[in-house]
Amino acid sequence: MRVFVTGATGFIGSAIVPELINAGHQVLGLTRSEAGAQSLIAAGAEVHRGNIEDLESLRSGAAKSDGVIHTAFNHDFSKFVQNCENDRRAIEAMGDVLVGSDRPLIITSGTGMGNPGPGQPATEDHFDPNHPNPRKASEVAGAAVADRGVNVSVVRLPQVHDTVKQGLITYAIQVAREKGASAYIGEGLNRWPAAHVLDVARLYRLALEKREAGSRYNAVAEEGVSMREIAEVIGRGLKVPVVSLSQQEAQAHFGWLAMFVSYDMPASSAQTRRRLGWRPTGPGLIADLEQMRWPEPATH
Ligand SMILES: NC(=O)c1ccc[n+]([C@@H]2O[C@H](COP(=O)([O-])OP(=O)(O)OC[C@H]3O[C@@H](n4cnc5c(N)ncnc54)[C@H](OP(=O)(O)O)[C@@H]3O)[C@@H](O)[C@H]2O)c1
Repeated sequence: MRVFVTGATGFIGSAIVPELINAGHQVLGLTRSEAGAQSLIAAGAEVHRGNIEDLESLRSGAAKSDGVIHTAFNHDFSKFVQNCENDRRAIEAMGDVLVGSDRPLIITSGTGMGNPGPGQPATEDHFDPNHPNPRKASEVAGAAVADRGVNVSVVRLPQVHDTVKQGLITYAIQVAREKGASAYIGEGLNRWPAAHVLDVARLYRLALEKREAGSRYNAVAEEGVSMREIAEVIGRGLKVPVVSLSQQEAQAHFGWLAMFVSYDMPASSAQTRRRLGWRPTGPGLIADLEQMRWPEPATH
């Protein structure tokens, strides 16, 4: 297939590109920059210049392809609500040109959207339309274009990691470095699920090839790693104390990240593994954090 990959230069997209090419697909990769274009060419992909806010660039990329994997997202969290709204528009725009075909559109969401209730793991068959995380807009948009006849699948991501980046934990490391303390809330028993970036890339390819309309997949290798365990490995890496905070103290310590740090969001991938034959091989989140090159302590 000729696959239009948005976010092809990003952390996850740049693992998806070789995964697709090695499986015999062609990749048309979206990028805003010349540096991005050069890296796509070096990876063996074709370049499609554009931007997730330039909807025409998304439509023309999707129109040239046999399928779309959408991973572009603006991670400026000071404009998170707006960025989620932009993701909704981007999905609708690509959906416009896929209506009436069987060309798969694979969109990206978070595992937290499938949490059925406190303490229970998120599952693929559950979606909470009242979730407080504005990122639910991505799945709402996916459902809207699916209603118009587009073959949509959703890949829900946990904290995706290697030894360089670890999803929101990368931001928690920055906070711990700046504040001189690595924190968790209460007893730190709330859990975040995780998966290695190469396992995640393989899952996107399997979802694309399966082209099963209306499917949701949880790219989860580890069902839940406690925030306390994460804070402790950060403390060891940065050589800063590990502290427990109240919910209120966490707001001042973590800023925008506090909302996420307080979530307990274990997630299962039992259905995904069964339906796609997906077997994550790791390494695990804590192992990758232990192997990472830690920054020097901040000077105060
Ligand atoms: N990483 C995780 O652990 C994790 C966890 C849950 C969900 N997710 C989701 O998974 C997807 C991929 O995440 P990622 O970590 O690979 O993201 P990333 O490294 O930040 O890459 C996102 C890409 O989006 C592209 N982009 C296009 N238009 C943009 C714009 N206007 N502003 C900013 N970027 C733009 C950028 O490509 P150019 O610069 O080349 O244009 C960039 O490479 C996102 O939807 C993300 O929210 C990730």
